[in-house]
Amino acid sequence: MTTPPETIVVGRREEAEADLAREIAALVREKPRVVLGLATGDTTAGLYRELARLRREEDLDFGRVVTFNLDEYLGLAPEHPGAFARWTRERVFEPLGISEGSRHVPSWGAAADSASWTISERCRAYEESLREAGGIDLQILGIGRNGHIAFNEPPTPRESRTREVRLHAWTREDAARVFGSLGEVPTRAITIGIGTILEARRIRVLAFGSRKAGIVARALEGPVGPEVPASFLRGHPDLRIWLDREAARELDSARPAPRS
Ligand code: F6R
Repeated sequence: MTTPPETIVVGRREEAEADLAREIAALVREKPRVVLGLATGDTTAGLYRELARLRREEDLDFGRVVTFNLDEYLGLAPEHPGAFARWTRERVFEPLGISEGSRHVPSWGAAADSASWTISERCRAYEESLREAGGIDLQILGIGRNGHIAFNEPPTPRESRTREVRLHAWTREDAARVFGSLGEVPTRAITIGIGTILEARRIRVLAFGSRKAGIVARALEGPVGPEVPASFLRGHPDLRIWLDREAARELDSARPAPRS
C-alpha cells in the first residue's frame, strides 16, 4: 500500500513558496550544514527568490548549507545560458551565498580534473559525494508535463540511480524557449535517479498552472509505475506537495461530487 501524500492546494503560488521557504529556513537554523536537493525551472524560481529575501531581511545564513542539483544537460559549458549550472549560480548559489565547495552539479564530477572523466565515472562520483555528505535532508522538486522528476523520463524504473539519459520530446520542446530553438536543446543529460530521490529524508514538490493539471492527477491518483515517474513519490514517508488551483483541477478530490 502506498502512503497518501500530503497535498496542499493554495490560491496563489506565492503562498506555497512562502510555506516551503519557511520550512527550509527552520531546517537551516536547526542544522546549518543541511543538505538541500535543488530543482531548476520556472516552478521553483519564486521559492529561491523568497529564500534570498529571508537571507537579506531575516539574516538567514546559508554559509554552511550543502546543495546537490538534480540534473544537467550534457554538452554545455557551465556558463551556457541554458545550463542549469548557470541558472543555479544566478538564482541560488550567489543570492543565497552557498559556498563554492558546497555546490554540486551532476555533470561537474567531483574533482578539478574531472573534465577528463567518463560520464559513468561522473555519475558514480556524484552518488559517492551524496553519500559522503550524509544524503539529502530536503529535496525540492518540480514535475515535468510528461511526469518526469529530475530528468527521469517515462518509462523510468523505481530503482534508477544517477546516469546519462536521452531527453523526451516534450522536455526538449519545453526547453526550446530558453535555448532559442528546438535544434539548440541538447538531446542528452545527466540526472539523479528515482531511487536516489526517494532516499531524501523529506521530499517537497511544487506544481503550478493548468499545463500541469493532467499529469498531477495521473501522478497522485493514477497507477504507480514507470510510465509516470512522479507517481513513485507516493511511496515516500515524508512527502508534501503544493498545488495551485489550476494544477489541482483534474484531481478527483477537486471535482464536484456526482448528483444522485
Ligand atoms: C529541473 C528538473 C525538472 C523540472 C520540471 C518542471 O531541474 O529536474 O524535472 O522540475 O521539468 O519544470 P518547470 O518548473 O520549468 O515547469
